[in-house]
Amino acid sequence: MTTGAGTKSHVKDLALAPKGKLRVEWAEMEMPILRLIRERFLKEQPLKGLRLSACLHVTTETANLIITLKAGGAQVALCASNPLSTQDDVAATLVADHGVPVFAIKGEDTQTYYSHIIRALEHRPHFTMDDGADLVATIHKERTDLLKDILAGTEETTTGVIRLHQMEESGALRYPILAVNEADTKHLFDNRYGTGQSTIDGITRATNVLWAGRKVVVCGYGWCGRGIAMRARGMGAQVIVTEVDALRAMEAVMEGYQVMPLLEAASVGDIFITVTGDKHVLDKPHMDRMKNGAILANSGHFNVEINIPALGEMAKDRRMVREFVEEFRMPDGRRLFLLGDGRLINLAAAEGHPASVMDMSFANQALGAEYLAKHSAELKPKVYPVPKAIDRDIARLKLRALGVSIDTLTEEQERYLASWEMGT
Ligand code: ADE
Repeated sequence: MTTGAGTKSHVKDLALAPKGKLRVEWAEMEMPILRLIRERFLKEQPLKGLRLSACLHVTTETANLIITLKAGGAQVALCASNPLSTQDDVAATLVADHGVPVFAIKGEDTQTYYSHIIRALEHRPHFTMDDGADLVATIHKERTDLLKDILAGTEETTTGVIRLHQMEESGALRYPILAVNEADTKHLFDNRYGTGQSTIDGITRATNVLWAGRKVVVCGYGWCGRGIAMRARGMGAQVIVTEVDALRAMEAVMEGYQVMPLLEAASVGDIFITVTGDKHVLDKPHMDRMKNGAILANSGHFNVEINIPALGEMAKDRRMVREFVEEFRMPDGRRLFLLGDGRLINLAAAEGHPASVMDMSFANQALGAEYLAKHSAELKPKVYPVPKAIDRDIARLKLRALGVSIDTLTEEQERYLASWEMGT
């Protein structure tokens, strides 16, 4: 059953709600910080009366965030931040059990994806919560009438933060946005350990490939690339890193990875994974050189990193050979395999980052929303970092939840650090 486009929500099948409810509860067990925030929000109601439109991957972890924001008094509408990342059972439980208007169906086409963003904006938000900046871009391009009510927003991911900085620099940005991605308790953990594990998970679920002994080419050595390279090596793969930034390339060399131009790596790689945030990283010249059986996957935010139209033009024919695996047969007989339509493979073919790491990312979102509820009037239409105090609190709470204690400085040590006179 599909709840129709004319109704308050648009999800695949409300009958999936019981399954989604159980899975959301499963994730909740691994989200102790968000649980603590939820308990406090219930008492203090820091978001009371605020309407919030969120454009996020509709997962069990996101459901826990949405439930927390509601506990804080917010009225939330949710749409997907990627056409292939929605977990339909989660969308169903949010509608059926929590009364949240949700506009998201796994596998929706691009037109439906944008129509869902528009539907989530009919909520007339005071706050936006975005992952990739499509919601913010749509407001600034198509629904500028909504700007009068919008106080502030948050952004979850690297790609979104880059877009927002471009908007700020060109003078287009019309309201303040907190860059959640820039918090240490977000990118150092979510981007590295979350993407690292879930990307390997997505490619494994899609293909059942053995990693040991494979040559894995990781394109881009940002936090996500670092995580993927680390985990692929842990599985026994020989990892090749490609980069355009000398410092990052140097770091990859020091970590013991082979570093080379992508054109060179193209002819030796077995599995290619893009995480650069840029367009056509894997392009025709690379695909021309790839070996028979090469696997192409993307874990960057948008499906632009692999030049899929060029791959389609090069191929004699193409067909789906497994769920999330499309075979492209070249005129010379080589077969290349594209995973998950070039969309982020960790969410397309697996379940995205595990709840334990999303606990920190979404604690930043929830506490960021609370901060904005208090301070948005003091902020200009710029991109702001998450306040350091919030970042540190989240790290402290996560350590406590993990049962890890740390030391504190003695008074003498504090004095030493605060002075410059004392040497050897
Ligand atoms: N981004 C990556 N993994 C995610 C998850 N599990 N939930 C929401 N957003 C994500």
